[in-house]
Amino acid sequence: MTTKTAQLLVIFGATGDLAQRMLLPSLLGLEADDLLPGNLRILCCARSNFDTEDFRSQSRKALQAAEYHDDAAAERLLERVEYLAMDLGDASSFSALAEAVKRLRDGNVLFHLSTAPSWYVAICQGLQQAGLIDADCRVMLEKPIGHDLPSSTVINDGTGRVFGEDQIYRVDHYLGKDGVQNLLALRFGNALFEPLWNARHIEQVQITVAETVGLEGRAGYYDDYGAMRDMVQNHLLQLLCLTAMEPPSHFDPSAVRNEKIKILRSLRPIHGADLASHSVAGQYSAGAIDGKAVGSYAAEVGSDTRTETFVGLRAHIDNWRWSGVPFYLRTGKRMPRRVTEIYLQFKAVPHSIFSAAQAQMQPNALIIRLQPEECISLSLMNKTPGLDRNGVKLSQVALDLDLHNAFEDKRRRSAYERLYLDALEGNGTLFVRRDEVETAWAWVDDIIDGWREADIRPKLYPAGTWGPSSAVALTERHGHSWRE
Ligand code: BG6
Repeated sequence: MTTKTAQLLVIFGATGDLAQRMLLPSLLGLEADDLLPGNLRILCCARSNFDTEDFRSQSRKALQAAEYHDDAAAERLLERVEYLAMDLGDASSFSALAEAVKRLRDGNVLFHLSTAPSWYVAICQGLQQAGLIDADCRVMLEKPIGHDLPSSTVINDGTGRVFGEDQIYRVDHYLGKDGVQNLLALRFGNALFEPLWNARHIEQVQITVAETVGLEGRAGYYDDYGAMRDMVQNHLLQLLCLTAMEPPSHFDPSAVRNEKIKILRSLRPIHGADLASHSVAGQYSAGAIDGKAVGSYAAEVGSDTRTETFVGLRAHIDNWRWSGVPFYLRTGKRMPRRVTEIYLQFKAVPHSIFSAAQAQMQPNALIIRLQPEECISLSLMNKTPGLDRNGVKLSQVALDLDLHNAFEDKRRRSAYERLYLDALEGNGTLFVRRDEVETAWAWVDDIIDGWREADIRPKLYPAGTWGPSSAVALTERHGHSWRE
């Protein structure tokens, strides 16, 4: 395996939404702080018939519109950039690419495939046939890796014929988020929580990724995928892995990914009679968010559709640590607010010495909020101040760690800044390994197949609510409630 820093970055799909809205602005963030390799060249490829100057001026606008901008750094970044118009279906485009790469290459190369996944295998083959692949190359692949297990296997086989597994960097941008890495810091940088992090002390875990947005012009893609494939297969299961995995021996690619895969392999399948009691699919109907009326999903798509925009699951990890602890997962579009949160509810005290009426005992809970602002909060029972005659009165208070304020002077980094830095430097810890992708697909496919076979249609929920009422039943049936 090579770990030498890449000196040439080749981005395919460079005029696309992801590249213009996220990738180039992230490279700008790195440029501004001198974190890009000094001699890095960036070759941007796409179908549009631009020349380098056209591409630079389009990208300049995108950089100016980004949340973080720095005009001088933007010019430095654009100086590194060249553009090559390519037709990915045409072999002569790869010859032109080969010429450009040979001219610009002076060390390791990172190819970043930000096109539709259906192109991944063809691009890798094109690169190989053009003689561009050697041990000093790496490739970054965007999600989704396939639409289900068979199609992801085709992509993994095809890309794997060209690149070794340690040269392939599969992106799940959630792993690049600071808050997600902070979950590891909280768990493994503190001695306090780990002894309690198991079925003896934890009653239930909830992982919520709620969005207020709808389709944002991606109906073509989304309606074919739905929330299960778009969010659960990747982001939610990655959060679940990091929350539930055993402590890895090192913070390195093999150690971390070896622990994550054990969790994915321990997920109890949800099928048969469990489908109805352990899974909920929903689709938003017209409603309102922040007082503004929003249309239904079907109206956005323009036809009647069975695609789910909400998923709620009651998952179980069948291992010693988590035996019997439900992991409730939920994600949806057009929810009342944007929030990504992991909630761990501890067991109730075994015996309360306080009078039930006065004390209103609530179990302790740890809340790790990743978005919109990072925060860690521990809810504790506390004596309500006062001179109560009928016994001590308790109330729940939160011990809050506001990470936004605690690190006020630190600029918040986008996930792609972290991921680019690591991929350029050859560190795959925050990227997803083939076995993780495929094990996650197998688990998710089983549920989707079950829904289809049992003819389970998504239940409607008004936009601006927390999903269909059956999502409430998913937890209440077991004496738990969603945190809202
Ligand atoms: C993407 C999904 O992977 O993640 C989108 O395709 C979703 O549908 C997005 O909106 C959410 O990412 P973030 O970083 O805004 O939470």
